[in-house]
Amino acid sequence: MYYLIPYAGGFYQSDGAPSVPFSIRNNLNTTLKTDIEKALDGEYSAIYCYEILEKLATSSYDKSVIREIRKDEESHYNVFSSIYFNLTKQHYQPKITESCPNTYHEGLVSAFKDEQNTVDFYLKISDKTSDQIIKNQFNRIAKDEQNHAVWFLYLMNRGN
Ligand SMILES: [Fe+2]
Repeated sequence: MYYLIPYAGGFYQSDGAPSVPFSIRNNLNTTLKTDIEKALDGEYSAIYCYEILEKLATSSYDKSVIREIRKDEESHYNVFSSIYFNLTKQHYQPKITESCPNTYHEGLVSAFKDEQNTVDFYLKISDKTSDQIIKNQFNRIAKDEQNHAVWFLYLMNRGN
């Protein structure tokens, strides 16, 4: 005798045995695939916009902070890319999702907000999946993004 526990858009048996019907499991995988595509687009856009932001920065200190953040995004992109390939056996072609700001200050504000939203998004992906590797990676990378948000907040509010 068991009852179904709703979890992350699917259902698990109360005794913990996998009972997710194929169609729901398939939907979960489709959602995960779409989420990873969105994450790849986000990292790809961040890499592109932070290159522009680094050029807009006037101090060598700011440039070095932004360069380090950009390197993190490149490694995140590589992690997500290999997760995506393992999951789908396909390579994803990323897209730039929005245009990059034109001024340094606007760029910092936009980067700060984007990093904050990305933390939420990655933690949700981590919570939703039962795949331990994907769960850990998104949780780990969410911490990097939170750290980036703090850096951007510092650069934004320090004044020049
Ligand atoms: Fe970031």
